[in-house]
Amino acid sequence: MTEVRISHLTKSFGAGPVVDALSLTIGHGEFVSLLGPSGCGKTTTLRMIAGFEDADSGVIAFDGSDVSRVPAEKRDIGMVFQNYALFPHMTVAQNLAFGLEMRKIPAAEIRTRIARVLDMVQLGTMTERYPSQLSGGQQQRVALARAIVIEPRILLLDEPLANLDAKLREEMRVFIRDIQRRVGITTVYVTHDQAEALSMSDRVVVMFGGRIAQTGAPADIYDRPATRQVAGFVGQVNVIEGVVETASGEGGHVRLPFGTIEAPRIGAATPGARVALALRPEAVSLVPPAGAGWQGRVVSRHYGGNLVDYRVAMADGTVIHAQTFPTTQFEPGAEVGVHADAARLWPLGD
Ligand SMILES: Nc1ncnc2c1ncn2[C@@H]1O[C@H](COP(=O)(O)OP(=O)(O)OP(=O)(O)O)[C@@H](O)[C@H]1O
Ligand SMILES: [Mg+2]
Repeated sequence: MTEVRISHLTKSFGAGPVVDALSLTIGHGEFVSLLGPSGCGKTTTLRMIAGFEDADSGVIAFDGSDVSRVPAEKRDIGMVFQNYALFPHMTVAQNLAFGLEMRKIPAAEIRTRIARVLDMVQLGTMTERYPSQLSGGQQQRVALARAIVIEPRILLLDEPLANLDAKLREEMRVFIRDIQRRVGITTVYVTHDQAEALSMSDRVVVMFGGRIAQTGAPADIYDRPATRQVAGFVGQVNVIEGVVETASGEGGHVRLPFGTIEAPRIGAATPGARVALALRPEAVSLVPPAGAGWQGRVVSRHYGGNLVDYRVAMADGTVIHAQTFPTTQFEPGAEVGVHADAARLWPLGD
C-alpha cells in the first residue's frame, strides 16, 4: 500500500491555473474521490499523479519519495481513462497481457491473472474480441481489468463508469469498491457524480476552480457542507436564511421570513446576525395543515417511485424543496404544514 502526498500542486495551460496550490494526502489503501464540476481540474490532477502531465510547481510523493521526475511508466500506476484508451489492434486478452509482459510476468501466471480478472468484470467469453467489437460498457470494463491486472501500487480512475447504463453503473460501483478493498490498493477516483463519490469513497475531495473546497468522509460532506457551493453541488439542498434572535450553546433561535426555528448549530453567528442554514429536502416532511408551525402551499409534485418530490411555496414566496416517502401524498395547490427536522440544519459558510 502506498501513501500519496500532494503538496501545493499547481498547473496552468497558459491562462490562470487550472490546478491551484492543491495539497492532499491519500492514505495507505484509502479510496479518495475527486468530485467537482466539469473543468475544475480533476483530470489534470490525476494526470499529474500518473506522470502524464508535469506540474508547474508543487510536489507529488509516493511513500515519502518525490516522484515528480519519475516517468509515468516507472510510477507503477494502474489507470482507467475517461475515454478507455484501449489498444485498438489488440484483443481483450492482449490488452490485458501487455502490462504483464512488460513486467516480465511468466506466461502461465499471465493467463491465470487475465482469466481471473476477466471473470470479475464478466467478460470471460470475450477474450479474443477487439475493442471495436465491444460495446462502450464492455470496453470500459476491459480498461478497468487492464488497470487492475498489473496489481499496481496506485489505482487512478477517471470517470470510469460514465458510459455505462444506470444499472450496470451501480453494480460496478460495488464491484470496483470490492476489488479495491480486496487488493487494498490506494485509489483516486475522479467523478462529477456525487452519488458515486458518496457511495464509494472513504473520503471525498470537493473541488471548484482548481482548489479544494472541502475534504471529508461522505457523511461530513453531505451533512456538514462547508459552503453553499459545496452544499449545492453535493446533492440537493434548501438554503434558508434568517436572523439569529437568541443564541444558547452552539445553537440558537432563528427568525426566517416564513417562521422561526430552533437551530442546534448556528456557526459563528451571534444574535442579530444573519445565518444561512442548509436543509436537505429529505429532512423536510409535509403534514396536514395545523394551526402552528410552518405553513405552505404545494406548488408541484413529482413522483419518483421511492420518493416524492415537492416544491412548497411559503407565505413570503420562499420555495421549499421536500422529498418524502410516497405513503401520504398531497395534491398541487393543497395547504400543508411543513416540518423541518431541526437536527439536520447545518450553518453554511460563504
Ligand atoms: N492540454 C490542455 N491545454 C489547455 N487547456 C487544458 C488542457 N487540459 C485541460 N485544460 C483545461 O484545464 C481545465 C481543467 O481541465 P480538466 O480536464 O482537468 O477538468 P475536469 O475537472 O477533468 O473536467 P471534466 O469533468 O469535464 O472531465 C479546463 O478548463 C480545460 O479546458
Ligand atoms: Mg476530466
